[in-house]
Amino acid sequence: MRAAMSGQYGSPETVRIVDTSDPVPRAGELLVRVNAAAVTAGDARIRAGRFPHGFGTLARLGIGLQGPRRPALGAVFSGTVERLGSPTADSAQFAVGDEVVGMTGARMGAHAELVAVSAKRITAKPAGVSHADAAATLFGGTTALHFLRDRASLGEGQRVLVNGAAGSVGSAAVQLAHGMGAIVTGVCSERNRDRVASLGASETIDYEKQPVSILRGNYDLVFDAVGNITRERGLQLVTLDGKVVLAAANLADMVRGGGRIFVGAAPERASNFATLLSMTLAGSFDPLTRVLGGLGKIHEAHAIIDSGRKVGNLVILPQEA
Ligand SMILES: NC(=O)c1ccc[n+]([C@@H]2O[C@H](COP(=O)([O-])OP(=O)(O)OC[C@H]3O[C@@H](n4cnc5c(N)ncnc54)[C@H](OP(=O)(O)O)[C@@H]3O)[C@@H](O)[C@H]2O)c1
Repeated sequence: MRAAMSGQYGSPETVRIVDTSDPVPRAGELLVRVNAAAVTAGDARIRAGRFPHGFGTLARLGIGLQGPRRPALGAVFSGTVERLGSPTADSAQFAVGDEVVGMTGARMGAHAELVAVSAKRITAKPAGVSHADAAATLFGGTTALHFLRDRASLGEGQRVLVNGAAGSVGSAAVQLAHGMGAIVTGVCSERNRDRVASLGASETIDYEKQPVSILRGNYDLVFDAVGNITRERGLQLVTLDGKVVLAAANLADMVRGGGRIFVGAAPERASNFATLLSMTLAGSFDPLTRVLGGLGKIHEAHAIIDSGRKVGNLVILPQEA
């Protein structure tokens, strides 16, 4: 199969498209032909070896010293089941030819024509959702859903500030918070103002005119999806019992999380995938999908993410030339 490989940390051009052996599904796993895969901020971090402040050494010890130990990146995909490993109760629910959507976690490998994945990490793709939209739904969607619903228990009528409202996580947070009945303020650049408003923000703030460092507020929840709001800054922007989500926390804030401060990695749960995909199917969640093309577009995808200006979600189609 063909796959996009990042053997060493570096620029988007360090990613190479190579012919490599097909993955072999283990017990309880499925081999999936990848129709669409998201290229995410997580992929770009790993490709570049660029981690939130304080995480550099720890991350490289875990992921690889000179480059990713698992060079085929990509953790979000939508595709078609090609083969099953030895069956288990979970994998027996799926059959060859089924269309499935999932996340591979630290194992990655979705920027390839084929990926092997545990049956616990996939859900059925609704027929009315395209592979591209399905792949675009999960990265920001699972993160926002976890923090808003499961950690911060966001309630109707609460006032929420979403920083980074045009990106994958931020655009999902704006939509999910709005859907939960919250009153949403989105922080984004001027060029994304109308888009963020159309997702459900009743107010937008242009950070080039009003940086978050000087903002004032009395929000019930601040959701930072950029990494430039510290624990202290977040607490200044919320009510006395207000909550702060730091989705891109540095090491110091990660360690001091707890109480009203929510940090950490969002879990990748198949039940959450299904919830989000049903919203995409119903039209109540827009994954802001931008399809770039075949595997050869991987460099462009990484470059867009590195620019810091990516809007929504980027998708490549590994079966295309
Ligand atoms: N904790 C977790 O489990 C988890 C899960 C997923 C992601 N993350 C982290 O969350 C962060 C965001 O991920 P993402 O996928 O949403 O990234 P992304 O899509 O690449 O974010 C790009 C967006 O950030 C906006 N932006 C850039 N600088 C900004 C600023 N100063 N103020 C406000 N907006 C700004 C840009 O909007 P404009 O063009 O309008 O500036 C752009 O739309 C990453 O650090 C990622 O690693 C954490």
